[in-house]
Amino acid sequence: MTDLRSRLRAVPTLTGTPPTFDPAHAPETPHPLFVDWLLYAVDHQVPEPCAATLSTVRADGRPNARVLILKDLTTDGWQFASTATSRKGEELSNTPYAALTFYWIALGRQVRVLGSVEPADPEDSARDFLARPVAARAEALTGRQSAVLNDPADIGAAVAEQTERLTAEPGLIAPDWTLYTLRADEVEFWQADPDRRHLRLRYRLDHPDHWTKERLWP
Ligand SMILES: Cc1cc2nc3c(=O)[nH]c(=O)nc-3n(C[C@H](O)[C@H](O)[C@H](O)COP(=O)(O)O)c2cc1C
Repeated sequence: MTDLRSRLRAVPTLTGTPPTFDPAHAPETPHPLFVDWLLYAVDHQVPEPCAATLSTVRADGRPNARVLILKDLTTDGWQFASTATSRKGEELSNTPYAALTFYWIALGRQVRVLGSVEPADPEDSARDFLARPVAARAEALTGRQSAVLNDPADIGAAVAEQTERLTAEPGLIAPDWTLYTLRADEVEFWQADPDRRHLRLRYRLDHPDHWTKERLWP
């Protein structure tokens, strides 16, 4: 029988090549540094650099997490989109706090963003919805994300019905499609080091308009 533990031990980790980064010259707020790191990942063909793990809190206090896509970073915060009636939507309406975790493997970089979450204006959610491909809009119009699927054939029928509606009315918007904004109060930048002296730079919002920057032990 395969010894899973030794197979896993043989798998290399932190195989990326970290770019030059001098925390002493980091900006006073995390937002420009995040954009800098994200665009570096985009420009260096890191696969799916906008994918991030969104962690939320269930009603019973236990954590829950899933991967989704970062849509934008505005002066308000990190934006992602989903359905308000999904599990994550329900968890966010019950406990409006979350963490977003990015990992750009090829660069040996991780970013953790923590803060409160609020739904954006309905017009912004609608704009985000209309920018999605037809298939994604039809899927969202079924309004069933995270519901129990009793018969897989139900998906095809429901999507076909919504695609027909969209053909007749291209401006249709799924009522529960929501653009969320995570307003960060803590952001940590982590960069791997071949000698295991991984670099950690944490920003903490300690006053409404002031971020404290501090290095952390790896
Ligand atoms: C790479 C990737 C990107 C995804 N992007 C989104 C997204 O932008 N919005 C979304 O609702 N789900 C997205 N998903 C699906 C979610 O991971 C998840 O399955 C779904 O949102 C239901 O989660 P929930 O039951 O916790 O609400 C994505 C999954 C992957 C793997």
